[in-house]
Amino acid sequence: MIIKGEVKMIVPYKFLLVMGNEFVGIVEKLGEKVERFAVGDRVYGRMPLGRIGAFAEYAAIDENAIAKVPEYLSDEEAACVPLTALTALQALQLMDPKAGETIFISGGTGSLGAMAIPVAKSFGLTVVTNGGGESEERVKNLGADKFFDYKKTDYSAELSNVDYVLDTLGDRELQKEFGILKRGGVLVSLRGMPNGAFAKRSGMSAVKWFLFSVVGRKYDKMAAEKEQQYHFIFVHEDGDGLERISKIFGERKIEASVDTVYSLDEVNEALKKIASGGSKGKTILKITDN
Ligand SMILES: NC(=O)c1ccc[n+]([C@@H]2O[C@H](COP(=O)([O-])OP(=O)(O)OC[C@H]3O[C@@H](n4cnc5c(N)ncnc54)[C@H](OP(=O)(O)O)[C@@H]3O)[C@@H](O)[C@H]2O)c1
Repeated sequence: MIIKGEVKMIVPYKFLLVMGNEFVGIVEKLGEKVERFAVGDRVYGRMPLGRIGAFAEYAAIDENAIAKVPEYLSDEEAACVPLTALTALQALQLMDPKAGETIFISGGTGSLGAMAIPVAKSFGLTVVTNGGGESEERVKNLGADKFFDYKKTDYSAELSNVDYVLDTLGDRELQKEFGILKRGGVLVSLRGMPNGAFAKRSGMSAVKWFLFSVVGRKYDKMAAEKEQQYHFIFVHEDGDGLERISKIFGERKIEASVDTVYSLDEVNEALKKIASGGSKGKTILKITDN
């Protein structure tokens, strides 16, 4: 999405750019004021939005953006976690749910759902999701309480008054998703349009606030019909959040799915593979010492 310029309004990176949003690695050196980590710690993180660059042998990063990796995860598995798990956590933190409430996660059979389902369960929520039928057992094992095969069943005919919706599919599904949400409920989208509230929360300029208020108005209006809230999020770095994720992973032994592992030299092949779709998990660049 960065290469194609699809998110340039949100993260206006200039090229040439060292790409790469997330990583796992070993702490090699510490800055003077670092207190939370020691040389040799195995850590992972989402690179700060203002300066990415994880496709590299070394990365310099603020200690507040990283956390220690749960021991049971291999490096390849751990590298799958930060971006999607933090996205799920940040969406749920925005919803601020109470245990016992219900969330619908659209497209929960994807890589985001694999993190969002167990994270939502850790908040004590009842989780309903939909997606590709062949993944029903897997998502139920992740903790989903109810599942709809999107090719066979229209969830909107079966569900109503849910407390929260986590949308991963965007415009094509949003109208229906607002339809199953209770009056006053909260919908957080990862795929819809940013709105004015997003620009404000992200500390963006007045110009961007205006622009996003215009492009997001359609969904703000849909939400206003039943006093619901519409939010868009773009995942940002957060070491404390990742520490919470590490704890949830440690307790629940959540599995991460690795699709293909490439070497750093094969970065262009790796990017092409992602662009060609059909992902069964994360595509990894493995960087070795030789
Ligand atoms: N805003 C952010 O910060 C942020 C962060 C991370 C991800 N995202 C976005 O979140 C979205 C989801 O990411 P992902 O990694 O989970 O994608 P993914 O791995 O490609 O998964 C998408 C899943 O949705 C299913 N699906 C497709 N059409 C559907 C429909 N109409 N109803 C229900 N399920 C359907 C797919 O099943 P089949 O394959 O069987 O069709 C697949 O399992 C992406 O658009 C990504 O860009 C945003």
